[in-house]
Amino acid sequence: MQQIVINKEKCIGCGKCAKDCVDSAITIEGGKAVVREGCLECGHCFAICPTGAVEMPGYDTSDCGEFVSLSEIDSARFLQGIKSRRTMRQFQKRPVEAAKVKMILEAGRYAPTAKNSQKVAFTVLTSRRKEIEKECVKLFRTGVDVGSKFIKSLERSEIDDNFFFKGAPLVIVVSGYDSVDPSLASAYMELMANSLGLGVLYSGFFRACTILNPLIKARLKLPMGHKVVTCMIIGYPAVAYKRIPPRKPRKARRR
Ligand SMILES: Cc1cc2nc3c(=O)[nH]c(=O)nc-3n(C[C@H](O)[C@H](O)[C@H](O)COP(=O)(O)O)c2cc1C
Repeated sequence: MQQIVINKEKCIGCGKCAKDCVDSAITIEGGKAVVREGCLECGHCFAICPTGAVEMPGYDTSDCGEFVSLSEIDSARFLQGIKSRRTMRQFQKRPVEAAKVKMILEAGRYAPTAKNSQKVAFTVLTSRRKEIEKECVKLFRTGVDVGSKFIKSLERSEIDDNFFFKGAPLVIVVSGYDSVDPSLASAYMELMANSLGLGVLYSGFFRACTILNPLIKARLKLPMGHKVVTCMIIGYPAVAYKRIPPRKPRKARRR
């Protein structure tokens, strides 16, 4: 089915869509835009058209909402917000409201994907969460040597029953066919979570479990061929940070 349709009544043949099309899929013929079938469906033509002549009938556009440029947000405050982000490892028991979960997932859904593939999956752990964490704990308790390959401090840590998910109310596994798209989606989600007053921990340990024990990965029932890229532990912070820790100096490189 053709997913990009030009409303000929509305099209003024300005060519803005054709000029902005990454796929060179649009031409202007007889003063009207014509779209070749099988384009990326990125929606740039939909976004740029001055008369709203581009339609995407296979998509639900009602959830797109008002167009807002991030430049409306104070950039200096935004940067301080990024610097003030901390990995959260202590969480309140308070649940995360459904509306906030939805906003975090939407932030991931709207992150860019290579060739607009949109093949990143977001798996919220609910009924299977307990058994999955139990399996992970078992793996790390019986195989600390295996775990310590990843990080030396494991030899010093006590692996308690909440070692992986820290008792946080929300756990989202982000998966995909490669690592880049899911990583980008995760970063968008983390910033969204922070803006909602929530803290985030990326559990590399959990990801390690899904690699070390395929049965743990199987319990997630991911789309075929997907690998776990991040596991995001999310909840209201039970600790408040007072200042921004320094980073290594940024190396200015010019080539
Ligand atoms: C991909 C990834 C995996 C991580 N895995 C873990 C983890 O399993 N356990 C943990 O305590 N922290 C984990 N972290 C958090 C890092 O240790 C943390 O980002 C780093 O210490 C810097 O602290 P900050 O995020 O508060 O600036 C992970 C971070 C990333 C990006």
